[in-house]
Amino acid sequence: MGTVIRLYQCFLKWGFTLRMPTKTNIMTSILKLTLHPFDLSQIPALHEACWPEVPFDHILDLLSNIVRRCEAGRAWALTALQGGEPVGFGQLSRWTKEAEISDLVVSVYCRSQGIGTALISGLLDIARQQGFREVEIGVAEANSRALALYERLGFEIKRRIEADIGNGIETVLYLRLVLTGQEAT
Ligand SMILES: CC(C)(COP(=O)(O)OP(=O)(O)OC[C@H]1O[C@@H](n2cnc3c(N)ncnc32)[C@H](O)[C@@H]1OP(=O)(O)O)[C@@H](O)C(=O)NCCC(=O)NCCS
Repeated sequence: MGTVIRLYQCFLKWGFTLRMPTKTNIMTSILKLTLHPFDLSQIPALHEACWPEVPFDHILDLLSNIVRRCEAGRAWALTALQGGEPVGFGQLSRWTKEAEISDLVVSVYCRSQGIGTALISGLLDIARQQGFREVEIGVAEANSRALALYERLGFEIKRRIEADIGNGIETVLYLRLVLTGQEAT
């Protein structure tokens, strides 16, 4: 019985350790990152990795809608896989003349390793292939890390509006990048 309890304690300790960001960062940094077109089979794993706090039905609606837009040629979505597991997501949407990157997210345990940059880079490649000259991205002014990332990649603030993007009315900045072929590398 004592052995079983000790094994269980080891399991709990190991399970907890696996969830610590520092350990996970070490593990994920040695696993290969690849970008793939998003497909419906990735939804459960993406939900667990990227939006665990959001009800599954909400993410199912969001991603099903994105699939419909992709099938209609109005959007392109990428999933970042590390060691075969989804760790990030982002989409590029076609508006009348412009393209917009949105719904960019990286698993909380895998941030600050360049995955967000890789996703933006992949989406900008698609924008170039589709003939867009500019890409827009919106971000809450309070989201200083995402804002710093976009500015580091060359996006410039073009306009600001007051809007509700999920956390009540707040200042939302729209940044734009003119595509020259050198961005987000
Ligand atoms: C914004 C986001 C997608 C960036 O992804 P990422 O994989 O961490 O981005 P990268 O590793 O390519 O680089 C981000 C840069 O910002 C920093 N950074 C970004 N998010 C960070 C975080 N949560 N914690 C610490 N640093 C962060 C990184 O250190 C890095 O800086 P550096 O280039 O000087 O090293 C990610 O933080 C995220 O999913 N945030 C929650 C959802 C969100 O805000 N989405 C954007 C909505 S507009």
